[in-house]
Amino acid sequence: MKILIINGPNLNMLGIREPDIYGKEDYNSLCKMIKDYADKKGIEVKIYQSNHEGDIVDEIQNAYRRFDGIVINPAAYTHTSVAILDALKAVNIPTVEVHISDVTSREDYRQISFVRKICIKTIQGHGFKGYLEALDLLSETIK
Ligand code: DQA
Repeated sequence: MKILIINGPNLNMLGIREPDIYGKEDYNSLCKMIKDYADKKGIEVKIYQSNHEGDIVDEIQNAYRRFDGIVINPAAYTHTSVAILDALKAVNIPTVEVHISDVTSREDYRQISFVRKICIKTIQGHGFKGYLEALDLLSETIK
């Protein structure tokens, strides 16, 4: 099973960026945690991060017929991007939305998620562990 993990803008700044909200661990620790967990479960993962909306759209399109599932944290693009929603609809690959923080308890402008409509589940507020829960869910769903 091949899963693509996509992280949107500013997630490369984890550890530096608002540690009270996102924690003190950096982006490399997140990647290592995901890779170690995937290895244990026998899941092949590619982890991709970009600060650019169009690059994320390209990555989703390239996943067509190459990946069995997608875990996406579109970060700020969650709340703005119809383009990312449309790309996910186009490839029609089972997708789980993840947010490190609990977005529902944050600012009004974070209450909309465009991608949520196409995702099988949203996992939020569970910190880095949310990505591992998303892998569990996809591996159960896809089989
Ligand atoms: C985030 C929440 C978003 O609102 C924010 O723009 C992010 C990170 C999260 O993981 O909690 O960049 O997606």
